[in-house]
Amino acid sequence: MDRRDLREQNRVSWNAVVLAHDSHRGDLSRFLREGGSTLFREEHDLLGELEGKSLVHLQCNSGGDSISLARLGATVTGVDLSDEAVSSARDLADKTGIRVAFERADVYDWLQEAAREGRVFDVAFASYGVICWLPDLRSWAQGIAGILNPGGRFVLVDFHPAADVFDKDWNHVHDYPSGGVPLLVEEGVGDYVAASGGGLTPAGFVEGVRDFENPEGCYLFRWRLGEVITALAEAGLSITALKEYPYANGERKFAGMRELPGKRMVPPEHIPAIPLMYGIQAEKAES
Ligand SMILES: C[S@@+](CC[C@H](N)C(=O)[O-])C[C@H]1O[C@@H](n2cnc3c(N)ncnc32)[C@H](O)[C@@H]1O
Repeated sequence: MDRRDLREQNRVSWNAVVLAHDSHRGDLSRFLREGGSTLFREEHDLLGELEGKSLVHLQCNSGGDSISLARLGATVTGVDLSDEAVSSARDLADKTGIRVAFERADVYDWLQEAAREGRVFDVAFASYGVICWLPDLRSWAQGIAGILNPGGRFVLVDFHPAADVFDKDWNHVHDYPSGGVPLLVEEGVGDYVAASGGGLTPAGFVEGVRDFENPEGCYLFRWRLGEVITALAEAGLSITALKEYPYANGERKFAGMRELPGKRMVPPEHIPAIPLMYGIQAEKAES
């Protein structure tokens, strides 16, 4: 399932929102320059030691995490579909003086091209809102396996699809996702950075663009957790960890979310715990 037309529309929708997101981030370059990090504990734990490793950050958005990963001693390449996100990431890297190579590309094209050119990495990483943009998990997982060194590691941290059965007010109104079925979101990629109320802006929250409305719709692809794991396993990767977390880092997707230390957002007290995030660590066999 190629869905190039839908992915192209997603590029346009992402391009439209990046400036609004960035407008809330405060002086991120200064924060990073002074040793700050945009990463959360969960990705640190799954990634392990990065000093001296080559790392590709897939769907890197505006590059804050890519730069934070480079600060940990990795040589980082960031890849993203959005022209605006990559331009913002390059600008951020220039301002911080931390070297990261950002490449603008669709992840499917990039993985194919990198394999053709024989490029390989010790680590591949993607996080927080990535699976929902992928129409085909099989070729994505095979592409990742194809650019990892023997013994290389893939780490994914993403929002748990179990939470996708709820509307904003915790009503169970949707089926559990499955099969990558496309969902047209007419209102496009929203300003979730503003909605997080500081959860996603470690350098401090700035009011910035108000009441952003995206004129460009987007398409999400709805997958369940088992389908993600199976795609990685079928691509020959060994799953070495599958974590499920009863909180979402930074993001307030639902009404009444409470903030625990470490910017962990949890449901209001009357909602029983459910997994809101998951993490996968997978490894390619030593040859
Ligand atoms: C929610 S963001 C990921 C958050 C990111 N990890 C961060 O550090 O901010 C999703 C990103 O996926 C990118 N994206 C969506 N579809 C893509 C595709 N087909 N190929 C590459 N990037 C894609 C978007 O441009 C966007 O920057």
